[in-house]
Amino acid sequence: MDLKNKVVVITGGSKGLGKVLALCFLKNGSKVVVCSREGEFKNLKNGIIGVKADVTKENEIEALAKKVINDFGKIDIWVNNAGIWLPHKPIEETDWKRAHDLMEVNLFGTVYGSKIALAQMRKQNFGLIVNIISTSGLNGKINETAYCASKFAATGFTQSLAKEVDGKKIKVLGVYPGGMQTNLFDESKPKNYIELMDPNFVAEKIVNNLLEKKPVEELIIKRR
Ligand SMILES: NC(=O)c1ccc[n+]([C@@H]2O[C@H](COP(=O)([O-])OP(=O)(O)OC[C@H]3O[C@@H](n4cnc5c(N)ncnc54)[C@H](OP(=O)(O)O)[C@@H]3O)[C@@H](O)[C@H]2O)c1
Repeated sequence: MDLKNKVVVITGGSKGLGKVLALCFLKNGSKVVVCSREGEFKNLKNGIIGVKADVTKENEIEALAKKVINDFGKIDIWVNNAGIWLPHKPIEETDWKRAHDLMEVNLFGTVYGSKIALAQMRKQNFGLIVNIISTSGLNGKINETAYCASKFAATGFTQSLAKEVDGKKIKVLGVYPGGMQTNLFDESKPKNYIELMDPNFVAEKIVNNLLEKKPVEELIIKRR
C-alpha cells in the first residue's frame, strides 16, 4: 500500500510506540492525527495533529473521528495503539481493581476505536484498522495474568473482526510486538528492560508491512 496522502489516526500517540509510529507514517507522506488522554504532545513534529481524546470514552473517540473527517474527508488507516500495563505480580498480589482499567483501555479502547473507524470505512468502502496488541495476547506469561487477559481479549476481538469485515476493501490487522523500551514501564521497569526492543525498530516493521502489496495480517515482532 502506498502511504502517501493517506489519512492515519493513531490512538495513544503522545509517547512510546504511537509517537514513533506517527513519525514513520509522516516520513511516508501520510497525514497523521494522534490522540492521548492528557492531550500533551511534547515536541510534536510539524505535520502531525494532536487531539485530546480518551479511548475509554466512546463519545471522545467519536468526536476525534468527526474532526478527522471534517478536516480530511476520510480515514484510510486507524491504529488502535493506546494501552496501559500493570507491574508484574503473582495473582494474589495483583490489584484486580486496577485490572478493570486494563480491560477498559486495552480491550474497550480498541473496540470503540474499531467500531467508530469501521462506521466511516463502511461509508467510504475502504480502510484499514491496525490493532496493536502484544505477544502477551498470544502466550500466557508468569506474573502477567491481568495484562495477558486484557491483551488476549483484544486478540479475540481483532481476529473475529478481521473475519467479520469483507477483508478486501476493508481490512483488520493485528500487531503483536514483544517488549519495548517505552513509558509503559514508568511505574516499574521489568528486570530485562535493557534487553527490550527500541520502539523505532517496531514502528518501522509495522509501516514496512503496510507498504507491502499483501501485508501480513497477524504481525509478530520480536527482538532481532
Ligand atoms: N512497551 C512494551 O513492551 C509493549 C509491548 C507490546 C505491546 N505494547 C503495546 O503497545 C501499545 C503502546 O504502548 P507503549 O509501550 O508505547 O506505551 P506508552 O509509552 O506508555 O504510550 C502509551 C500511549 O497511550 C496513551 N494512552 C494511555 N491510555 C490512554 C487512553 N485511555 N486514551 C488515550 N490514550 C491513552 C498514552 O498517553 P496519555 O498517558 O497521555 O493518555 C501514550 O501516548 C500499547 O497498546 C501496549 O500495550 C507495548
